[in-house]
Amino acid sequence: ESSETTQLKQLYADATELFHHILINTAMGEEALQYLHKRGLSDDMITEFKLGFAPQKELLLPFFQEKKVKQELLRKSGLFSETATGDLRGRFRGRVLFPIRDMQGKTVAFSGRLLAQNQKQPKYLNSPETAIFNKRKVLFNFDKAKTEIRQKQFVILFEGFMDVLAAYRAGIKNGVASMGTSLTNEQIYLLERTTSKMYLCYDGDSPGQTATARALSLLEPLTKMTLGVIRMPEALDPDEYVRKYGEAAFKELAQNTHETGLAFYLHYYEQGRNLANEDDQLAYIADVLKQLAGVTSPIERDLYLNQLAKRFGVDKDSLAAQLNDFMRKSG
Ligand code: CTP
Ligand code: MN
Ligand code: MN
Ligand code: MN
Ligand code: MN
Repeated sequence: ESSETTQLKQLYADATELFHHILINTAMGEEALQYLHKRGLSDDMITEFKLGFAPQKELLLPFFQEKKVKQELLRKSGLFSETATGDLRGRFRGRVLFPIRDMQGKTVAFSGRLLAQNQKQPKYLNSPETAIFNKRKVLFNFDKAKTEIRQKQFVILFEGFMDVLAAYRAGIKNGVASMGTSLTNEQIYLLERTTSKMYLCYDGDSPGQTATARALSLLEPLTKMTLGVIRMPEALDPDEYVRKYGEAAFKELAQNTHETGLAFYLHYYEQGRNLANEDDQLAYIADVLKQLAGVTSPIERDLYLNQLAKRFGVDKDSLAAQLNDFMRKSG
């Protein structure tokens, strides 16, 4: 490890401690602490994940200057942005901070959330890439979740940091999240070395469901892992689900209610359609058959052909003929 890498990790370790201290021990952090409590996070959880608060007041710069940290290193750290006049100023202000840790549990970046939604600024702001932070390689909470993923023999992929934390407090500790993007090859490789099963537990709202469909189709040809879906009802995200129905209900859902990718698509293609209506039925059947055309197991295809035939009262041979057509076209 180069000395610059070591120095950067030390800066992030110090910043993590400082922001955490501000959150839990100072008047500047009071509002943020209340916000986190309101969102259902206990002091134990806040400490376990070393959540922090970056106030509006500039604290980080004088803190590091007093420690005689070189300006050049501060510039490279990503903890600051540069003003038009070349001065440094803290990148995160008025945000709750989620430390992003590497495999060894060291902070290598932050994601900061605004306390109140605001039209002008993004809800979450991430650290830029640095010598110690490559966002393609990092999965939020992977360091803590690793052992649990091995034991449970599956990993749950969430959309957001708050979802990982909500699951964690419900006792589901094998959850991770990517950095607000779809999974990269590097992240898939990391997970494949740890487990052979992955469940997607994205938000139940329409963007979350679209992202699930997209993730399934992107991942299926890329990974040997078995893929499944934990579907959230009522357009809730996992964090909202825990707050509405409680930790036990979420735990039950996450442990025992997995769908196959295909079962997910059967629901997904119903969205925005009225299946009492024949046009919608035909379009739905076509979408499902196209999906089935990509299924390699003949038994699985047959199972779903039977279901479709029964559900819509159509002849199974006609469905099979249409399916064969789609299979020829997709090569
Ligand atoms: N995200 C982001 N920038 C945004 C919005 C979202 O980077 N402006 C990323 C974050 O990693 C976020 C994830 O996308 O956790 C999912 O987005 P969303 O569902 O909108 O946020 P939540 O995780 O539900 O955040 P919260 O519950 O705090 O509102
Ligand atoms: Mn979302
Ligand atoms: Mn969400
Ligand atoms: Mn949320
Ligand atoms: Mn199961």
